[in-house]
Amino acid sequence: MKYGVLGTGDVARTIASKLIELGHEVMMGSRSESNPSAVLWAEQNGEQALYGTFADTAKFSERIFCCVHGIHALEALRMAGEENLAGKILIDQSILI
Ligand SMILES: NC(=O)c1ccc[n+]([C@@H]2O[C@H](COP(=O)([O-])OP(=O)(O)OC[C@H]3O[C@@H](n4cnc5c(N)ncnc54)[C@H](OP(=O)(O)O)[C@@H]3O)[C@@H](O)[C@H]2O)c1
Repeated sequence: MKYGVLGTGDVARTIASKLIELGHEVMMGSRSESNPSAVLWAEQNGEQALYGTFADTAKFSERIFCCVHGIHALEALRMAGEENLAGKILIDQSILI
């Protein structure tokens, strides 16, 4: 399955790496096309590990984990794009602190 992970922090990298280990394709998204943490994570996790913007990631994915701080979650989802999120399962890991 194609998974998207919005965010590049510890939570995002942990979930994304586990999904790769389970055999899924995973794109890690951030505000920029080539966030250094996402690039490094992709280099360390093989061909199934991809990176891009929040919008690239939402468009690519069938299921999506939101792994940014709660205070940034709505902004990240807005940048992901309503049309790219429509009809997909979204798992929100955010804590609003
Ligand atoms: N559910 C659980 O069990 C659990 C456990 C621990 C933590 N959490 C929660 O998981 C979330 C992630 O934690 P973390 O420490 O891994 O996160 P983090 O490192 O702080 O997250 C960094 C990500 O937030 C994005 N970001 C920063 N400012 C933004 C903005 N203004 N708009 C949109 N995106 C922005 C960054 O994007 P750029 O890369 O573009 O800078 C980066 O990808 C938090 O809400 C935390 O409380 C949940």
